[in-house]
Amino acid sequence: MEVIGIKTDLVGVGEDLVEALQNGMQRAGLCFRDGDILVVSESVIATWEGRVIDLDTVEPDERAHALADHYGKDPREMALIIKESDSIVGGIPGVVLTLNDGFLYPNAGIDHSNAPPGHVILFPKDSSISAKILRERLSSGRRIGVIVGDSRTHPLRLGCVGVALACQGIVPVEDARGQDDLYGRKLMITRKAVADNLVSAAQVVMGEGDEGIPAVIIRNSPVEVIDGDDQSLFSMPRIAPHDCMYIGALTGGLRPYAGGYDWLIALAKEAIVNAYAPYSGFKVGAAILAASGRVYSAGNVENASHGAGLCAERAALAKAISAGEREISALAVVGDTPDPITPCGICRQMLVEMGKDILVIMANLGGKAAVATAGELLPNPFIGQSMAKDSDGDSLIS
Ligand code: THU
Repeated sequence: MEVIGIKTDLVGVGEDLVEALQNGMQRAGLCFRDGDILVVSESVIATWEGRVIDLDTVEPDERAHALADHYGKDPREMALIIKESDSIVGGIPGVVLTLNDGFLYPNAGIDHSNAPPGHVILFPKDSSISAKILRERLSSGRRIGVIVGDSRTHPLRLGCVGVALACQGIVPVEDARGQDDLYGRKLMITRKAVADNLVSAAQVVMGEGDEGIPAVIIRNSPVEVIDGDDQSLFSMPRIAPHDCMYIGALTGGLRPYAGGYDWLIALAKEAIVNAYAPYSGFKVGAAILAASGRVYSAGNVENASHGAGLCAERAALAKAISAGEREISALAVVGDTPDPITPCGICRQMLVEMGKDILVIMANLGGKAAVATAGELLPNPFIGQSMAKDSDGDSLIS
């Protein structure tokens, strides 16, 4: 297998990456052959997509300032991180770990390196479409594959390895289950991250800095390049956060709220007005967004027989369920606590009954907020399936 670097001129915003690569290949006397795989770095793809931002044009809001303070980051960059990510999983001083579109990225993939001074490069908007355009425009009749590559660290490892963000023409993950190991035993869970491994090989040649090699051609690799445009073959498989061993094992805690549900929090806050809490004097409000789009809110309902009282979350859940809702998307709960209020054990049990992926947004009156899924708030719950057995008496829970 050969890894051949393509040296190009600096590709700036508004310049055509295809031409830059063609010129670079021409200068090096390179032409594509059938089976070649082009690996292109994500930062040059993002630049080509025009995703370069002048930090002076970003106006951070209050939440961005608060999170920037907490994580020791530039508030303008934090504002971009919030905008570009679906959620912030957590962080350490200087770096936050974010989920975007089912993938984990440090700082939402926003990069200073290879950006002009005072600018940052956002993550490519759609690596898969960019890879498709590159493949169509560069292949000139050859059967080639294209991978958009990035680099990441793995937990507790120093140094970056390659990861593929998108592929065209190759299957990114090979399923090796069922193959024999050295002792003839069947491999049970092994999947080969073919595309990631190719990006790692590419990065040995590409480097990460001023080498001016934003792409490589991988030639004579044992990886099959597939003709055609069947995106179901080429799409990057992902694991749901609650099925991932790192996330599952490490995020017992809550994530900072990164926006999107201010309106649901406001409705939960409004519901405090009708809370009936003469015994504790502690009023709580909750608002539920059902998958139908309808919203149900309630306050806590106490009773002289204290144990008969209902928390706001359960009161809102009872309203939603008795109105016929069976799919709940999110629940916001607000109370007058110093930190975001967290649901009690009984409410967590009742929430998880309706689905472990329900997003729970917890807030206090001062605007501090955190999020977690119902499944994260109550791991290993007792649910209907816990009681079901197959014909051998084994559990049905996978
Ligand atoms: N409460 C809620 O309504 N939700 C919570 O998340 C925590 C506690 C209520 C129950 C009770 O009426 C009062 O707060 C004091 O425990």
